[in-house]
Amino acid sequence: MALLSILCFPDPRLHTVAKPVSAVDARIRTLIVDMLHTMYDAKGIGLAATQVDVHERLIVMDVSEERDQPLVLINPQILWTSAETHLNEEGCLSVPGIYDGVQRFDAVTVSALDDAGKSRIIEAEDLLAVCIQHEMDHLMGKVFVEYLSPLKRNRIKKKMLKAQREEPC
Ligand code: NI
Repeated sequence: MALLSILCFPDPRLHTVAKPVSAVDARIRTLIVDMLHTMYDAKGIGLAATQVDVHERLIVMDVSEERDQPLVLINPQILWTSAETHLNEEGCLSVPGIYDGVQRFDAVTVSALDDAGKSRIIEAEDLLAVCIQHEMDHLMGKVFVEYLSPLKRNRIKKKMLKAQREEPC
């Protein structure tokens, strides 16, 4: 098990659009184990492969209180979104210390492969639905702060760059 380093905003590599995983093989299974280890270590609820500089469509999550329900989505596709949306306070391991509101669908249905390469359908609501939308944005090269106003985003960018000069991310 390896701890992977997480890219920090405004690293341009976070804007890379991920390619589909071509095969759920030993390499991908090792990556999943390492990403889960990295996510739990950083006390996050989700991590996209993009954030560890691997540009393939893979997400790991765990929104359980006990931190014992890992969920792996490979090549996720949104099949359905609810008509209702709500403003959700979000944070991101790639933007440490920053929390702000993003409008998200209340519920989503996604199809994905699991870590055994088996196709499955996930009907998600509440925190899991928000987490899936946030992580799928990462796979499209989008970080949540890009939903905020340019003024706010620039302020965050400056703050992050200053923090990274003091302590490399
Ligand atoms: Ni994130």
